[in-house]
Amino acid sequence: MKIIFIGGGNMAEAIFSKLNDSNIIVIQRNLSKLEKLKLQYPQINFLPKLDFNTKSDDLILLAIKPYDAEEACKNIQQYTQSSSIISIVSGINCQSLGTWLNNAKICRAMPNTTSTIGLGATAIYFTPTINNKQNILDIFLKLGKIYQFESEDKIDQMTAISGSSPAYIFYFIESLIQSAIEQFGLSPELAKDITLQVVKGSLGMIEANPSISIEQLRSNVTSKKGTTEQAIKVFENYNLNKIIYDAQTACYNRAKELARLFALPAVIDNE
Ligand SMILES: NC(=O)c1ccc[n+]([C@@H]2O[C@H](COP(=O)([O-])OP(=O)(O)OC[C@H]3O[C@@H](n4cnc5c(N)ncnc54)[C@H](OP(=O)(O)O)[C@@H]3O)[C@@H](O)[C@H]2O)c1
Repeated sequence: MKIIFIGGGNMAEAIFSKLNDSNIIVIQRNLSKLEKLKLQYPQINFLPKLDFNTKSDDLILLAIKPYDAEEACKNIQQYTQSSSIISIVSGINCQSLGTWLNNAKICRAMPNTTSTIGLGATAIYFTPTINNKQNILDIFLKLGKIYQFESEDKIDQMTAISGSSPAYIFYFIESLIQSAIEQFGLSPELAKDITLQVVKGSLGMIEANPSISIEQLRSNVTSKKGTTEQAIKVFENYNLNKIIYDAQTACYNRAKELARLFALPAVIDNE
């Protein structure tokens, strides 16, 4: 079995760097980038284009941007008919991919940026005709946890839940740091160090106490008429829950919008 990456960009590298073996081929059309990658990953085969027939147990992993997908798929169509396709391309559905590739054996996977450090949360959907599912699951298990879904729409929902949420968490952490600097005059370094220790400690407490709910952990440090309660009341007054709900909705709607933008006309007509 070979794993053939179409595109050798950021997300492809996050994946092939963890597989790093001689059964991997990466198609990287930009030659100077190809040479750099060759030096960095001597075990992996880098080629400027796919121009040979792939086999039925080979996996083709599409790691290109959505707007490059149609051209890239059509370029490889004649060589990849018998192989299974894995697409990590955001917003392009299986119907479009299947048509461009003339191949219905597709897995859509949505890894997130924390996959780069092996702590990813990858959503996976298989079309009914795909085989070698376990080989595909094994790839994404190297990046962290996997979550398999029976409906393709869950992949777009997972964009809002896991795909984009590292950015939400970074945003909240940035706000905590900024407030400590602006309001209490801490140096940026100290504000960051303290905040990150608090974030790590909070996650550590959740993980160390699986039988205690997160709500209970919060309640345990929120004494009636105490200091923390005042801060939580401000979150509640601004309805932070609703803000987060709306943010996830906006993210999901954009994923659907992108899906429509790149969908085949027949798909739009049917909706
Ligand atoms: N980054 C994330 O956290 C994340 C998470 C989940 C999913 N994704 C999805 O993963 C995909 C790739 O994202 P990325 O951040 O890795 O993008 P990227 O760094 O821009 O990489 C895209 C790669 O595709 C290559 N490419 C473009 N057109 C091609 C074609 N016609 N044939 C062959 N190769 C072609 C590019 O080559 P050149 O260098 O020659 O242009 C480049 O190597 C996107 O669809 C993104 O939505 C990303």
